[in-house]
Amino acid sequence: MDDDDAPEEVFAELKTRPIGGWGVAQIGAGTGLAVYAMWVGILQPGFRKVPLRLQVPYIPASKAQVQNVMTLLRGRKGGLVDLGSGDGRIVLEAHQRGFSPAVGYELNPWLVQLARFHAWRAGHHEKVSYRREDLWKVDLTKCKNITVFLAPSVLSLLQEKLQAELPDDALVVAGRFPLPDWKPCRIEGQGVDRAWAYSMQAQRQNIGKENNNSITTE
Ligand SMILES: C[S@@+](CC[C@H](N)C(=O)[O-])C[C@H]1O[C@@H](n2cnc3c(N)ncnc32)[C@H](O)[C@@H]1O
Repeated sequence: MDDDDAPEEVFAELKTRPIGGWGVAQIGAGTGLAVYAMWVGILQPGFRKVPLRLQVPYIPASKAQVQNVMTLLRGRKGGLVDLGSGDGRIVLEAHQRGFSPAVGYELNPWLVQLARFHAWRAGHHEKVSYRREDLWKVDLTKCKNITVFLAPSVLSLLQEKLQAELPDDALVVAGRFPLPDWKPCRIEGQGVDRAWAYSMQAQRQNIGKENNNSITTE
């Protein structure tokens, strides 16, 4: 290209020139690099100490999903904890519906900051709290209302933690993916927006019954 080529001519030439295999490879490599940089720089920080099999990507709950979770929490009181709170939407909504304290645990520092910004913008930054902590290390023994929206691959392990730590009068609400072995007491919504509620007491009674049945049939 000459220095004095008009930009329109250069653009027209580029448009008519086929991209070719090398061009496709460059575009592919560039896109891959951009996705990797986004993963490492924005989505992955904070997860270095979490085993790969327990890492869950950030996907925000849909508006309908948040509403379904809130419907299942109706009539409940006290504090609420969202495990893996992302941009804080569940915690903020729960606070606006009277749950106090409303706390989110999130490992990704960018999301913790974003959640705090959303709370500040809504005028509630002193009323909700977002903590940069690993949800697997949080003590849940005093939590009465727990919300989760995590990957199916980690839900079996989460069941064990909830079962071991939660008090009998706790209610767990899972968004998008149900807890694999528990029996929900209520379900709300359809498709990807669906949410499931689990009473901890009923859950423990079910396990008790199953154990009794296995003893009598042995
Ligand atoms: C599917 S998103 C759900 C976000 C939010 N709860 C919502 O409903 O919009 C799961 C979130 O859990 C966070 N997370 C995954 N593993 C975590 C861990 N071990 N400790 C704390 N947060 C975690 C991710 O960073 C991500 O933001």
